[in-house]
Amino acid sequence: MTILITGATGLIGKALTKVCLSRGFTVHYLTTRQNAVVTEEKKKGFLWNPSKNEIDVNAFNGVSTIVHLAGATVANRWTSAYKKEILESRINTAQVIYDALEAIEHNVVHFISASGVSIYPPSFTKLYTESSTDVSDDFLGTVVTTWEKAADTFSNLDIQVAKVRTGVVFSAEEGAYPKIEKPVKMNLGAALGSGKQYLSWIHLDDIVGIYDYIIINKLEGVYNGVAPTPIKNATLTKKIAERYHKKIWLPNVPSFVLNIAMGEMSTLVLDGQLVSPAKMQKTKYMFMHSNIDSALNQLISNKKDS
Ligand SMILES: NC(=O)c1ccc[n+]([C@@H]2O[C@H](COP(=O)([O-])OP(=O)(O)OC[C@H]3O[C@@H](n4cnc5c(N)ncnc54)[C@H](OP(=O)(O)O)[C@@H]3O)[C@@H](O)[C@H]2O)c1
Repeated sequence: MTILITGATGLIGKALTKVCLSRGFTVHYLTTRQNAVVTEEKKKGFLWNPSKNEIDVNAFNGVSTIVHLAGATVANRWTSAYKKEILESRINTAQVIYDALEAIEHNVVHFISASGVSIYPPSFTKLYTESSTDVSDDFLGTVVTTWEKAADTFSNLDIQVAKVRTGVVFSAEEGAYPKIEKPVKMNLGAALGSGKQYLSWIHLDDIVGIYDYIIINKLEGVYNGVAPTPIKNATLTKKIAERYHKKIWLPNVPSFVLNIAMGEMSTLVLDGQLVSPAKMQKTKYMFMHSNIDSALNQLISNKKDS
């Protein structure tokens, strides 16, 4: 089987590539960077420049499944120019692939797109499952809604579509977790805002496991890519502190301070959604880290300096 991955050089993409190669698949990937192109027997990089509508269509040779992970990080400051990039790097990329597939002979039957739990409106109490229809009207809600619509268009080409509404991915080396852990290890940990907002997290092993499961079982539709046990911000901070034998002695960081420091993107840390992977759990997918204690065991034992 040959699989095409966009965003294969990122946190999830690198780990997914390894799993696909270990299954004996051939992995093609699209990158915007010449120096990220490698050509090996089973792993081949192809260049694209989605903002100019340019793509190397050799990337589709023999491909049956596409995993669309590309997208500019939401963790950079949200200026109006950067907000445009967040949106366009997800939508234009999907459009460039769609236009290419429409124009060539191909064997693609499955399109799996990353998506985000920020499609759901922030709430301290409401539990969202894959059947929830509530949609947030803030910036990220709009981005995710448009991103999913772009993915859905692939069904017009008779391609099955799956969307993975991803929570905050925890990895020892990259992404949100090292940023959350760092102040706690420095004895400067503090809950953010009320501390009562939920973080719907997922360990990197499981988000990759979910993509792998969707690929192998040819699943379609929406799946929440979150662990079954979301955690409140204050509880997470306390649990990490316990692991490092630190105390949380500072008061919560007030919301207005985070609003001033981070601007609109403070929503990333102050708002949260309580999200359940109910539909994923109804499949036979087995979570490797279904609770935070299991995830922290892996994340902290992986640190050289812990
Ligand atoms: N990690 C999380 O906590 C999380 C949570 C929710 C949703 N997601 C979504 O899951 C997907 C993968 O996440 P990730 O954490 O692996 O992302 P990541 O580490 O930030 O990597 C994203 C990849 O997208 C490509 N990219 C970046 N800007 C681009 C642009 N302007 N145009 C085209 N390609 C661009 C890059 O590939 P090249 O440099 O090779 O071109 C990069 O390797 C993303 O869409 C992300 O929004 C992630």
